[in-house]
Amino acid sequence: MQQLFYTLLITLLTIACSAPKEKQPEREAHRLQFHFTPPSGWMNDPNGLVYYDGEYHLFYQHYPDSTVWGPMHWGHAISRDLIHWEHQPIALYPDSIGTIFSGSAVVDENNTSGLQTGNEKALIAMFTYDKKGFETQGIAYSNDKGRTWTKHPNNPVIKNPGEQDYRDPKIFWHEASAHWILSLAVKDRIEFYRSKNLIDWEKTGTFGREYGNHGGVWECPDLFPLTAEGTNDTHWVLLVSINPGGPNGGSATQYFIGNFDGKTFTTDADPSSERWIDWGPDNYAGVTWSNAPDGRKIFIGWMSNWLYGQAVPTERWRSAMTLPRELSLKQTAAGLRLSSLPSPEVNRLRGARESVTAGNTYTYGSLAELQLTVDLAASTANDFGVEFFNAANEVLRIGYNRSTERICIDRTRAGKKAFSDQFAGVHYAARSSDSPTLKLHLYIDVASAELFADDGTTCMTSIFFPNEDYTSFRLFAEGGDVTLTDGFWHRLTSVY
Ligand code: FRU
Repeated sequence: MQQLFYTLLITLLTIACSAPKEKQPEREAHRLQFHFTPPSGWMNDPNGLVYYDGEYHLFYQHYPDSTVWGPMHWGHAISRDLIHWEHQPIALYPDSIGTIFSGSAVVDENNTSGLQTGNEKALIAMFTYDKKGFETQGIAYSNDKGRTWTKHPNNPVIKNPGEQDYRDPKIFWHEASAHWILSLAVKDRIEFYRSKNLIDWEKTGTFGREYGNHGGVWECPDLFPLTAEGTNDTHWVLLVSINPGGPNGGSATQYFIGNFDGKTFTTDADPSSERWIDWGPDNYAGVTWSNAPDGRKIFIGWMSNWLYGQAVPTERWRSAMTLPRELSLKQTAAGLRLSSLPSPEVNRLRGARESVTAGNTYTYGSLAELQLTVDLAASTANDFGVEFFNAANEVLRIGYNRSTERICIDRTRAGKKAFSDQFAGVHYAARSSDSPTLKLHLYIDVASAELFADDGTTCMTSIFFPNEDYTSFRLFAEGGDVTLTDGFWHRLTSVY
């Protein structure tokens, strides 16, 4: 008997030791170290961003069975600080009505839906059902702080009126009209609906056919008020993702500043003007958290692009989210602009502050934050900035081109690029500021770069895939010198 027990034990141990081990996320090639990535499988848009009882919920477009897009589910993760995430079981699975496309979530504070069953407020998610391109809107609710979800028996609560692209509901409570407001992307415009109970909806307005960029289909809207910095003036901001049509090709997110009267959005802006929350190729479908504390407007985007997102060279998982970002409205030389800056929680990852000067090489170990303040009047170089590199002679360049007055990220020599002929390139962004001081604030995480220039009024996000991890950076200047009034950096720590 004892013999049998030991034989069994040894057999079990042998099986356990020889079974293929799951790779630790910190060991996988290109796995980011301080950005959210799915444990495995495919991920695109952030969904259902809602804060409740000390927890930030992040749901996301997810296909767990493959590393390419497929029947969509809502993946789920929870964080208390926007940086360290705990993976949760899949929240929403496809059903007979369709697969689960993008959408949002809210806290039903006053139980307007009547769906609350216990002491916790009900969380209500609204999402698009897609069945082979036929799209309707459904809701689901949770009475256990977002841990489990039940789809509503009346689904779909909004039927399709005969539209081809009819999706991505984003809801918020509008106190002035005492209604829930829903923004919905409908092909080349945003439609607005309202409801008293989150279940019965009436259409109230339309915006956008003649406004902004129409290089592709409109997707993933978000509508919210913001008070312009240094004033008491509140403006409404409407985010609209567009694919393709982005300023550097493929997917990107534009925004409009205007007014919302409870029924529709209007703007005085020149209809042909285009504003981008991020000019880089890799920030798409971003929206903001509902119910965030202290009136914060916290944004997160999918850090990829539909041009090549399904082909990037990661093995078991695909795509990351951007850093969480705080949105504000700032006055610039070009007018009122939407600024994004990393959420202050990211500062907790900082190591010691060290200075940066021209002519030195710094070893950073794949994760870094840099802040450079450049005196443009005193600088003579036509191209200057910072380059990150590895022993394989691969280099990512981020900087400024004086003759075109544009900020740029060059990933043509940054690493792997054969997976898509749409990937390698030099990408540009226009400044909104005319200040003779150029501020470049940068985050590098293994395979991603996020640049917040001029206090977040010009942003660029770009991913890259080095054959060996980057280890070092240095300043570069071509055709002259660069004069820094300030320069410093921090090593950042991994969240694993
Ligand atoms: C944006 C998007 C949404 C849609 C989802 C499907 O990236 O196309 O419009 O709901 O992805 O995964």
